[in-house]
Amino acid sequence: MCGIVGYIGKKNAKPILINGLSRLEYRGYDSAGIATIEDDKIEVVKSKGRVSTLESIEDIKNLKGTIGIAHTRWATHGKPSKENSHPHFDNSKSFAVVHNGIIENYIELKKFLTNKDYKFYSETDTEIIPNLIHYYYSNDLNDDSLKFLRAVTKACSELKGSFALEILSKFNPTEIIVVRHDSPLVIGKGDSENYISSDIPAILSYTKDFYILNDDEFGILTSKTANFYDSNLNKINKKAVNIDWNSSSAEKDGYEDFMLKEIYEQPNSIRETIGSRISLDSKCYIENIDFTKRFLKSINKIYIVACGTAMHAGLCGKVVLEDICGIPTEVDIASEFRYRNPIIDEKTLVIFISQSGETADTIAALKLSKSKGATTIAITNVVGSSITREADYSIYTHAGPEIAVASTKAYTAQVVLLAILAIYFAEILEINSDKLLKLKKSILELPSLVKEVLKNTDDIKDFAKKVYKEKDMFFLGRGIDYTVAREASLKLKEISYIHSEAYPAGELKHGPIALIENDVTVVGILTDSHLSKKTISNLQEVITRGAKTFIITNQNVDNDFDNVIKIPKINTLLSPILSIIPLQLFSYYISKEKGLDVDKPRNLAKSVTVE
Ligand code: M6R
Repeated sequence: MCGIVGYIGKKNAKPILINGLSRLEYRGYDSAGIATIEDDKIEVVKSKGRVSTLESIEDIKNLKGTIGIAHTRWATHGKPSKENSHPHFDNSKSFAVVHNGIIENYIELKKFLTNKDYKFYSETDTEIIPNLIHYYYSNDLNDDSLKFLRAVTKACSELKGSFALEILSKFNPTEIIVVRHDSPLVIGKGDSENYISSDIPAILSYTKDFYILNDDEFGILTSKTANFYDSNLNKINKKAVNIDWNSSSAEKDGYEDFMLKEIYEQPNSIRETIGSRISLDSKCYIENIDFTKRFLKSINKIYIVACGTAMHAGLCGKVVLEDICGIPTEVDIASEFRYRNPIIDEKTLVIFISQSGETADTIAALKLSKSKGATTIAITNVVGSSITREADYSIYTHAGPEIAVASTKAYTAQVVLLAILAIYFAEILEINSDKLLKLKKSILELPSLVKEVLKNTDDIKDFAKKVYKEKDMFFLGRGIDYTVAREASLKLKEISYIHSEAYPAGELKHGPIALIENDVTVVGILTDSHLSKKTISNLQEVITRGAKTFIITNQNVDNDFDNVIKIPKINTLLSPILSIIPLQLFSYYISKEKGLDVDKPRNLAKSVTVE
């Protein structure tokens, strides 16, 4: 997905911009570009390919300005190419723009500008923006200090879709204007300098103080000042907030890949997410939420809406919410939910889960739910992300920055937080306190049990070495184990490019068993003692047909299976947090055996900010 970096201060902007772009590489991109201002002239260097390709271009060596903007592009409109990469100029080279997001009405605006003799040199939706700014700027007869901003606000008022923008003007060579609308952007406050980025980790090594821009707010940044305005040019008072992320937590810390580091961070990310929310001698506490019994009694349905791994965490949340709160809970994929007129009203509670807090479909589903009167809760990992500005209530997983595209620690943190939320509801509803106490005890044991699972990884590695060349695999489970099968199957697809299917074990004989033949690998997850025997029978059926079996279990199972990975026993409602870990590692080791880029798998982006 596209990434934005900017700098204005006294230092040479180029190394700061390049460093920021490199830190955004994990988001996935196909081209990169940079623009700086020098002697009142905007210089642009851009290229298709990696940031290292951009760095090797001869022209970039001459960039010496102390003001600059930069971008990594993930193609949406037009192929990856130098012409389509950002920054984009207007025809007179007076304004340069980088843009994250999509302009939905760019064809109409292109026609409007073409009729005014503007020419276009790229296939992008972005190129209309600097030209539109130029149009408004050159038609403004007032020559006051807000002329540049006025042109930008007018241009933005014409744009439909999503955008985060950085804009340079040769008429105002000591300023950068920034704005966001449904696409993330933050400003880092330094000492006589300001940094800009679409992602906090990209500039975290320079500052920890951030101005969080809300939708339709504009910033005029100089080296010494950061002034903010609404779209009517009224000044907004904004205070910088301190973001308590350790900059080294965004680095690999000696691990070969971010994904491996993030898998091993799970004891800590789970501990942080539990925090002081759960204790054995007081009621569960969730900051920012103050639900009453009366309100919760009025709720007749909960929806959990999310995409990908976050949706899989939601499947675990459904099991816990229904089991301990007795409230019917449905889980839906955000891209489906938003277009299917779901039955929701003011008696519905909708929980949205998004690690990044920027997923376009999830945010659209949230807006839809609000418009129908539902109460909305966002569960996210990123403070100040877009989803938190839309939801009635926001709760944070404290997993720390997740850099690898394949989500691991965010998933386990989401599952833990959903269990905590269910306990919080159940305590308010005064439901079965004995059961709740047991669940609370189990939650508090999680960090040390996860640590234990992470100690024994040799068998997982060995099995990955045996099967990494395979083309298809199956993941089977029943009940909560089936939800883990789905997440494990997604993980394998994402980073190893092996086709896999997850099935409820009992469904196998209704069709998919036709695909089982000699040597196909079937992964079985067995943590629910009530269902294990049944799943074992289904696994026996695949063994009979020649399949190799890899079992993750906390039960005592016989030795018909080729490989058995034992994990500690825990309350079944929390078992996904332990059973997914060997399977995260399984995918990881397969990907490594295949020599693939674990952290940046092909075709995928970390944060999916377009639908
Ligand atoms: O940031 P989000 O949690 O909203 O992202 C949702 C999905 O795009 C994400 O979980 C995706 O499926 C991951 N690549 C899974 O590893």
